[in-house]
Amino acid sequence: MPARPSAHDAAFYITTPIFYVNDVPHIGHAYTEVATDVLARWHRQRGDDTWFLTGTDEHGQKILRTAVANDTSPQAWADALVESAWKPLLETIDISNDDFIRTTEERHEQAVTIFLQKLYDDGHIYSGEYEGYYCVGCEEYKQLDDLMETADGDYAGQLVCKIHSRPVEILKEKNYFFRMSAFEQQLLDLYENRPDFVQPASVRNEIVQFVKQGLADLSISRSSFDWGIKVPWDDSHVVYVWFDALLNYVTAVGYGADDEQFERRWPAVHIVGKDIARFHAVIWPAMLLAAGLDVPKAVFGHGWLLVGGEKMSKSKLTGIAPNEITDTFGSDAFRYYFLSAITFGQDGSFSWEDLSARYQSELANGFGNLASRVIAMVTKYFDGAVPTTTLDEAIVTIEKRVTDAAGAAIDAFAIDKALATIWELVDALNLYITEQQPWVLAKDEADRDRLAQVLATAVHGIGTLAILLAPVLPKTTTKLWAALGGDGTVDQQPIDTAWQWKGTSAVTPLVSSLFPRIESSE
Ligand code: MSP
Repeated sequence: MPARPSAHDAAFYITTPIFYVNDVPHIGHAYTEVATDVLARWHRQRGDDTWFLTGTDEHGQKILRTAVANDTSPQAWADALVESAWKPLLETIDISNDDFIRTTEERHEQAVTIFLQKLYDDGHIYSGEYEGYYCVGCEEYKQLDDLMETADGDYAGQLVCKIHSRPVEILKEKNYFFRMSAFEQQLLDLYENRPDFVQPASVRNEIVQFVKQGLADLSISRSSFDWGIKVPWDDSHVVYVWFDALLNYVTAVGYGADDEQFERRWPAVHIVGKDIARFHAVIWPAMLLAAGLDVPKAVFGHGWLLVGGEKMSKSKLTGIAPNEITDTFGSDAFRYYFLSAITFGQDGSFSWEDLSARYQSELANGFGNLASRVIAMVTKYFDGAVPTTTLDEAIVTIEKRVTDAAGAAIDAFAIDKALATIWELVDALNLYITEQQPWVLAKDEADRDRLAQVLATAVHGIGTLAILLAPVLPKTTTKLWAALGGDGTVDQQPIDTAWQWKGTSAVTPLVSSLFPRIESSE
């Protein structure tokens, strides 16, 4: 497990992949966003100098073809999709990004040109002939291993991409090549010396095996279409879309334009789906090494949301729009569900039944009712004044253990484990209320002190929960924090010492349920 930052102002720069704008988002894309958002919010609440970047990937053949098929220009298509679909997604699922980069922005295009020219000047690029397969869906040059021959269906007898199940194209072009093969040993050393560089272990193993088989040079330009950034020394070529896209992580934080900002932010932690881990853990560090820049802090490849055992995808018409879920359950439940139900780093299946069941048992009954019952009892028995008394040590001990363990889980990218740990406190507090029976204590004046202690302890435990859950449930915990009468806002409360928050003097009843009952549509 990586060491916890000792200083609380440690730089923490985290990114999502930038999304293709050929289509609208589905819950698979939203999953990448919420996971990254939780990590960013956690680090902010820890006091780290946090920067969270997301954005859109707008060049390449895929976008060009989509635009042409829709009788428009690629720029107009991208503009429309960014405004109507991708930026609104961030609102729908409550994403707290600090910046949003589009690869068609001037700041990006200029810095890509600077980077490429440097690599060219330093001898890392040569011109050659590319002959091979290309999948436009992946925007990737393919080896035979990546393809399969289909026996039936529309593409019977053709070579199709294993990911998209669509035929690949045969390319024969004069291209510029990046001497990636020269970095093979340095990459292997990197994986060896920094076992945390690629995570989880399953993805790391795949990457190491891949590089051990030998690295080829990479074609980094295309000349058969012009939707891309022009190669600075040869404007009959545009930059290969992945080469352009990967650079967003440095161009957005000042590479080639603002050295101070770049020094402050870079290197980043990249959260990506495992399907694109190779680009991030092989090509990207090789590019950075060539340019003499630091490689990323870590690349984490998460699993896929599956539908019928396959990766959910728009091209296979299995995509579910995020707002189909948030319209009914709200954004907090969306965030909680995907991060608690799926082990981060493994694939998981989505089902409406599982979502409804967990919403009801974990959020509404487990956490929501606990909070409203305790606040209601303080209101009823003490007029809302939180008794000043010592707290039950047994509960405080659990608060401390959970705070420490959840922080450690986040450092290990085990978001689901952090949530499971926090839920140990939810369960412990529910059990505490059931066992202590404050409503029985309230009947006898002789038990008044004990009643005061039980409710003060429960309020403290709920406050700790609010602080720990703020990164995952920002809306609900804000509401709860207001009802608890806590100082400032919940997301300002130091998360590493959540259990030590100082408590409050008065609570006010929750005006509405934290997790309202969902009426079944059947
Ligand atoms: N544009 C590239 C990334 C460039 S980053 C320099 C791209 N875009 S994408 O829109 O196709 O995918 C973006 C992210 O969404 C990837 O991390 C991908 O793994 C993720 N997902 C797409 N479908 C998914 C699921 N069904 N499940 C989980 N994540 C999924 O790739």
